Amino acid sequence: MNEPDKQNRAQFATRLGVIATTVGSAVGLGNIWRFPYEAGQNGGGAFLLCYILIILAFGIPVLCAEFVMGRSTRSNIFGAFRKLGSKSKWHNVGYIGIIASIMILSFYSVVAGWTMEYLYQSISGALSHDTPAQYHEQFVSFSTSNWRPIMWTAIFLALNYLIVRQGVKKGIEKMSNIMMPILFIILLIFCVNSLMMPGAKAGLSFLFNPDFDKITPSVILSAMGQAFFSLSLGLGTMMTYGSYFQKDTPLVKSATTTALLDSLIAILAGVIIFPAVFSFGVSPEQGPTLVFEILPSIFNHLPGSIIWSSLFFLLLVIASLSSTISMSEVSIAYFTEEKKMSRSRATILNTAIALFFGIICAMSFGCLSDLTFFGLFRIDLFTFFDFFSSNVLLPLGGMFISIFVGWKLDKKFLRDELSNHGTQHARSLHLIIFGLRYIAPTGIALIFLMGLGII
Ligand code: PFF
Repeated sequence: MNEPDKQNRAQFATRLGVIATTVGSAVGLGNIWRFPYEAGQNGGGAFLLCYILIILAFGIPVLCAEFVMGRSTRSNIFGAFRKLGSKSKWHNVGYIGIIASIMILSFYSVVAGWTMEYLYQSISGALSHDTPAQYHEQFVSFSTSNWRPIMWTAIFLALNYLIVRQGVKKGIEKMSNIMMPILFIILLIFCVNSLMMPGAKAGLSFLFNPDFDKITPSVILSAMGQAFFSLSLGLGTMMTYGSYFQKDTPLVKSATTTALLDSLIAILAGVIIFPAVFSFGVSPEQGPTLVFEILPSIFNHLPGSIIWSSLFFLLLVIASLSSTISMSEVSIAYFTEEKKMSRSRATILNTAIALFFGIICAMSFGCLSDLTFFGLFRIDLFTFFDFFSSNVLLPLGGMFISIFVGWKLDKKFLRDELSNHGTQHARSLHLIIFGLRYIAPTGIALIFLMGLGII
């Protein structure tokens, strides 16, 4: 990143830096933990098909919209809506972003904490068992422990705090440049290994052969939530990153590359997990615990398993950090730029709120697993935060962003921004604008109403 420019905002130094950093935010537990478990619970191929269509129809246009808002205003989500929408009430969309970012940071840190526990277990050689049932028991005994998951959540949040407090960017840009390609290569190696497993055919057919009967409103809603979650979309994260882009950063190209790489990594994770799921004869539908029970079994079959599993969990912790750093910026920018707090106070506040809710989320698997609302229904904060932020808040934020950029911004301004004043001949310009004006707002609204059972 270069020195701050006239407007006092730093910019990414290189084009590779732009891609690596946006991909760094996008790639994380969403691809490797959430995508396989959501696909497993929602019919495999049916889910993947909906997911890809939603990335193309809503994901890329909304990503472009966030980039346009961020780069043209050099502001956070509140400032961007204010500068572009003058005295209107649009900046209130920023509150959706803040609530979503804090909810996600809370449960995400719990899962990142699980990853750290597994990193620790693999380094200490405690991650080698003979049967999937033993891995299941190991996960259950860890996640129901009263203090371990909480301890790791706190350690992860402390790491996040230390990095975010420094004012970010420089370190992340460098780290992402190196770590993302390594993660990609190691995933490719695991893919080859999984493709040689006896259940490879069944696993691939589960993931790539859509059973159209399984496409229900709730599957489409989950696919939409996964698409927004995975692209860090709808809460202003990508807007903030857009505010660090240079004037000549090609927005459409950057959005498309980010979306393609992110989806590719999620699909690679699926190609690693499902052949193993079918080889070991376990159910693909077990939810958030799936990956933590399957991956160690896969590693255990590789020569030099300790090295592979340690390297993998280490990279996953780093990928998680580059995601949590980006989501932390949403609320920190609000506290510092809107509420005039100092950066260190804002960072402490952000961490404290996430730690409070993170502890409750962590306990959802252990001592709070039987918690009910006056005996009427079970309260599971982890599942609620995961569902509500991804499937409701992010698409809602995305819908407002697309309406704002598609309808409220001057058409010529939008075209100029997307094409960098005509210097980028993006053939897809019309498609993006059409997507923002018509497809994304109506599509998201329709999926909501159907998926939540309102129509
Ligand atoms: N996209 C990240 C992942 O797939 O792990 C999660 C995420 C990061 C969501 C940043 C939202 C966000 F603002």
